[in-house]
Formats: sequence, structure tokens, C-alpha cells
Amino acid sequence: MKCFRFSQRESKEDSSKRRKSTWWPSFSGSFGQDSRKSGSEIRSNPPSDMSAASPSLLPAVCLQPNNLRIFNLSELKAATRNFNVGNFLGEGGFGCVYKGWLRKNNSEEDVTVEVAVKLLNARGHQGHKEWLSEVKCLGLANHPNLVKLVGYCVEDDDRGLQMLLVYEFMPNRSLEAHLFGKGLPVLHWQSRLEIALGAAQGLAYLHEELEFQIIYRDFKTSNILLDKDFKPKLSDFGLARQGPDAGASHVTTAVVGTMGYAAPEYVQTGQLTSKSDVWSFGVVLLELLTGRKAVNLNLPKNEQWLLDWVKPHLTDSRKIQKILDPRLSGNYSLQAAQKVASLASHCLLKTAKSRPKMSDVVDKLKLVVGMPDCQLQAESSETLETEVAVPKDGTLNPKQRYLMFKEELKLKMREDGHVDWRKPSKSTLVKTW
Ligand SMILES: Nc1ncnc2c1ncn2[C@@H]1O[C@H](COP(=O)(O)OP(=O)(O)OP(=O)(O)O)[C@@H](O)[C@H]1O
Ligand SMILES: [Mg+2]
Repeated sequence: MKCFRFSQRESKEDSSKRRKSTWWPSFSGSFGQDSRKSGSEIRSNPPSDMSAASPSLLPAVCLQPNNLRIFNLSELKAATRNFNVGNFLGEGGFGCVYKGWLRKNNSEEDVTVEVAVKLLNARGHQGHKEWLSEVKCLGLANHPNLVKLVGYCVEDDDRGLQMLLVYEFMPNRSLEAHLFGKGLPVLHWQSRLEIALGAAQGLAYLHEELEFQIIYRDFKTSNILLDKDFKPKLSDFGLARQGPDAGASHVTTAVVGTMGYAAPEYVQTGQLTSKSDVWSFGVVLLELLTGRKAVNLNLPKNEQWLLDWVKPHLTDSRKIQKILDPRLSGNYSLQAAQKVASLASHCLLKTAKSRPKMSDVVDKLKLVVGMPDCQLQAESSETLETEVAVPKDGTLNPKQRYLMFKEELKLKMREDGHVDWRKPSKSTLVKTW
């Protein structure tokens, strides 16, 4: 999906705030023309001007205290069989990603670990800034729902300066591939909920559990990678940045992100808060519910923007069924879906301050995920009134009679050309017990 950037310079307010921090990359001056490109839709240029890197960036990396391993380019070439096309995993805004195998550090035995190696495109200073941001952010952060950065490499070769990042390998690709890609089995309901919870925990950690708040700025399905157990991990911290200093309400910054996911106030004003990530989280929740992309220009005009399409259905929890992913084939708990839809609406409130904190989102999702399936189904059938189980002996308790009555009424209304049992006409509302 297309990333966008409306302005090349960050504001004075932004850079002065950054100067106060001790860990964020400190740059001065303006950055070169940004050419961040979409993950799979636009092909990147071949490396051409790697030598454009500012040498002043390099000491900052070397001084960074972390456990990251510094690789030689030759090691990474060997690991990826010289960036062999057979090892190619995909291409995003940063560059191409290849699968590789490394000998385990300090290992006497011949143990290899799988890694993913990202090779920076030639994109001038902006690309280097993102590379550095990623190294610093992932070098400091440590959470089971964030992809692990194993190390990095900065080295000159005959094509100029090469900048690479080495991550733990995530064998189950991205949430985007599972939700929207072809040839993969349908992601079932419980997995969707668990992925939403894990991703929310990753964001909550960045927002609320570190000494410095980190705003991720690029929360979307392609950046949620899945490990062997389908546990989600956030990747791509190139756009992440430090949140406002104590006492400040926001950071003013160049607008970057991905179309369809960025919060409206951020796009309009460049004022960034952690609530921008909460908005993006709300969009991803809707993608999980509906199986539709935030923006899909191949659909009819009125369905292209997911938020516009779902809006009329979110206001009434009984309409949620109409927008749920048809590939789930009804295998979901309606009550859970209603709760998730309501949470998404909360995350997508126009007023950023009214949106929940990510830790609140985590608490709400834990309740939904933690409810045993049978309980959810039992409760959802009460809410939906789709089926009323009649006991074998034919006797009905008052609750069952009530549900049966509603079912009959619903049928009658349908015959009358109405489908909304909540507003029956007086003539049809006859108490039958
Ligand atoms: N650690 C990893 N393990 C396995 N595959 C990975 C890893 N990191 C990235 N990939 C894969 O590499 C491809 C490119 O990823 P990348 O993050 O560069 O781009 P993207 O997320 O598709 O787009 P964008 O640049 O807009 O974020 C994707 O298919 C992604 O699933
Ligand atoms: Mg990505």
C-alpha cells in the first residue's frame, strides 16, 4: 500500500524537541527528496547513489549502547547466497528483504538461525534516517510482540555505501498476506482476535512502558509479521519517532504513513500523538473483521475506503453481520464481533483525546479473547436471536419462550416487508405467553 509524505522538512518545534532526547537520531538541515515507495505495488530503483550517505550518521550508530551484532557485508552476502533471487522475501518502502542463514553467535556446534536481511534502497538522507531510526528503536525496545533486530551492517562496497538490517525470521509472513493474499488458508476467527491482542500489546509497550514514548506511525497489516505459532510481531520502525516531551501535547512532524491508516488530525496538521497509532489500530481491527483492505481502488467507488463503507453498519451492532468477512463462513462469535466493532469505533473517534489508550484496548481485547468460545456462542445466540434450541421434551422456560416469540415476530415482519424486529407495529406486537 502506498506510503505518503506531504512535506520533506520537520518543523522547528519538532527538531528542537528531538534535541532534548538522548537516544533519537540527531540530524540537522533538510533531508533529500523522499522516495519511499509502496511495499509491493511500486518497484524501487536499483541502488545508484549509496555514496550519498552522510558519514556523520555512522558514529551515532556506533555509540549506541545495545546488544546488536555488527555484521560484515561478506557475512550477509554469504548468508543470503549473494542476495539470491530464490531467497527474496519481498520488497517494501525501505528496500528488498531476503531470507538468510547465520551461524549462531559463539556457537561451537554448527547451529544455524534463520534471519531476514533488509537491504536499503538508494534514497538519500531520508532512507538513512529511517534506517537509523529502526536501529535505535529496535535496539532499545524488547518485547515479545516486536520483531527482534539481530544486528546491522554499514559498509562501503563497489556500489557505494550499503546499509542493511538483520532481523529474526518470521516464517508465517505478514497479516496482510493472510488477510488479503491469495493461496493461503482463511485466517480463522480466534487467530484474528489473538493477532489483534498481540499487536495491541506491542503498541501499548511502545506507548506506555518505555522510558521514552515511541509513536510507531506505520501500523498496518503488512507490518504485523507472524511467527511460527502465528504470534504477531510489529516490524518496520523506520517511521517511528519519539513522543512528546512531558508537558507537551504532541510532536509536530512531517506527515508520513500509509494511505488509509493515518489519523485525520495528523494528516491535516502534522500534529502527532500516540492516539494516531490508536486510530491506525482501529483501521486494522476493521480489516480483521471485514477481510477488506483499508483502501481498495478495485472495488466500486462507494466501497473503496473501508471506513466509509463500514460506517453505517458500526452504529448499530445488529448490522455488524453484514460487514463481517464472508470467508469466515459464519464461524465467529457475533457477540465478540460486536465488541471488536465497538472497540474499533472507539479507536476511530474523530477527537484524538477521546480514543482509548492502547493499554485500555489491550484490556478490552483480553476480555474478548479470553471468553471461551462456547460462552461466546451461547451469548451471541441470545443477542442475535437466530436460533432457539427447543428442549427435547418440548417444554420452554420463559427466556426460551421469549426468544421463540421474537423469532416468530421476526419472520412475520419479514413477511410484512419489515426486517427490524425492534420496531414492530402495534398490531404485530402481541404477547403470546
Ligand atoms: N523479519 C522478517 N521475516 C520474514 N519476512 C519478512 C521480515 N521482514 C520483512 N519480511 C517480508 O519482506 C517483505 C517486505 O517487507 P517490508 O517491511 O520491507 O515491506 P512492507 O511492509 O511490505 O511495506 P512497507 O515498506 O510499506 O512497510 C514483506 O513481504 C515482509 O513480509
Ligand atoms: Mg513493512
